[in-house]
Amino acid sequence: MVEPVFMSTLKERKEAIERAGYNTFLLRSEEVYIDLLTDSGTSAMSDRQWAGMMLGDEAYAGSRNFFNLENAIQKYYGYKYVVPTHQGRGAEHIISKIMIKQGDFIPGNMYFTTTKLHQELAGGKFVDIIIDEAHDPESMHPFKGDVDLNKLENLINEVGQDQIAYVAMATTVNMAGGQPISMASLKALRKLTNQYGIKIIHDMTRVAENAFMIQQKEEGYQHKSVEEITRMICDLTDGATMSAKKDAMVNIGGFLAMNDKELFDEARNMVVIYEGLHTYGGMAGRDMEALAIGIAESVKDEHMKARIGQVHYLGNKLLEAGVPIVKPVGTHGVFLDARAFLSHLSQDKFPAQALAAALYLDSGVRAMERGIVSAGRDPITGEHHYPKLELVRLTIPRRVYTQAHMDVVAESVISVFENRNSIRGLKMVYEPKYLRFFQARFESL
Ligand SMILES: Cc1ncc(COP(=O)(O)O)c(C=O)c1O
Repeated sequence: MVEPVFMSTLKERKEAIERAGYNTFLLRSEEVYIDLLTDSGTSAMSDRQWAGMMLGDEAYAGSRNFFNLENAIQKYYGYKYVVPTHQGRGAEHIISKIMIKQGDFIPGNMYFTTTKLHQELAGGKFVDIIIDEAHDPESMHPFKGDVDLNKLENLINEVGQDQIAYVAMATTVNMAGGQPISMASLKALRKLTNQYGIKIIHDMTRVAENAFMIQQKEEGYQHKSVEEITRMICDLTDGATMSAKKDAMVNIGGFLAMNDKELFDEARNMVVIYEGLHTYGGMAGRDMEALAIGIAESVKDEHMKARIGQVHYLGNKLLEAGVPIVKPVGTHGVFLDARAFLSHLSQDKFPAQALAAALYLDSGVRAMERGIVSAGRDPITGEHHYPKLELVRLTIPRRVYTQAHMDVVAESVISVFENRNSIRGLKMVYEPKYLRFFQARFESL
């Protein structure tokens, strides 16, 4: 599909961002020129996927599209059992309810907003076991999604293996800047978790992007295809939650997948309460068909080369101009380091939120905050979490924009950087209880 984009005036953008309470999630999409809010559900579907949409079997039960989806997941990811859900958080909800008991711990390679909230709502506590380098935007570690096994062992020794619900392992790590985990780290994690009988639940939202980074950067994988590496990653885990709106390039959809029959029986039973029957789980038949096709397209080397190549094109332009970003450039977007960018603003003045608003004001480019607002509050003390990373995410949808759009984005970021000292901090004036970054409102200080 081709969509028109609209340029606005500075006056219109000023009115829009004030009305939106300086929160880019509260802008209308027609007020946006280039939309880099998220890569979630925003990719362009292919001719084949659209053709698949015409083959929707909308039977309530046993839709043929479900079986096509199940076949694609078994073939490309290797998981035996599939439970469809409306999107990733639907899968997170179900797995958290089944596997987490009150007081359990869930170690993982950095938190993700919805994943962590579902763990907490199920009575668990997330523990960060990612390597320290992941919290440092300047570190050039090639696999900043790697797990620090000492951190995991310390936790096991402290609380005991029975108190660990599972290890939540993400490919790639969104909040760290779209950073991949290496095959070596995953293999070592598998070995250790096997020793203690702990399961690995894989947040496979961007697994093919992670596979591409392994192919590009990890010794010994240069001659393997993205498809082969994707399968190897999945084979090292016990089950997965998937937001199919990213890698698999559909506008809506997700699933839970696993190898354990008992876990599957429980999940398949629970999905009927929260999502829909176990052969659609909140998706239309046509969406499941497009998803089955999108999975096959996502693991093609040529596609990944173009997709991640575009992200790196933008990243390299910003690096050349001396703009502080998370290094090395990750897979689904370029992340501005708002702490370094706006060094005159302390973290409680919401620098990343203010920077995303300033970028919108400059050019109509919509980005989003990934810092203190996204991190939320500690559910027990009520205090803000103060994450080390205070970032603005320029997220690139797949197969939507051209390199010329990336040039416009780079020009705007550079111009905001040159005028950074004029950017003021923000005050939060409305704060919702859950996932506040979606709906919070701010005023300029
Ligand atoms: C790493 C990761 N996990 C889980 C999710 C949640 O998926 P969804 O938005 O489909 O509910 C997302 C989406 O933003 C994500 O990036």
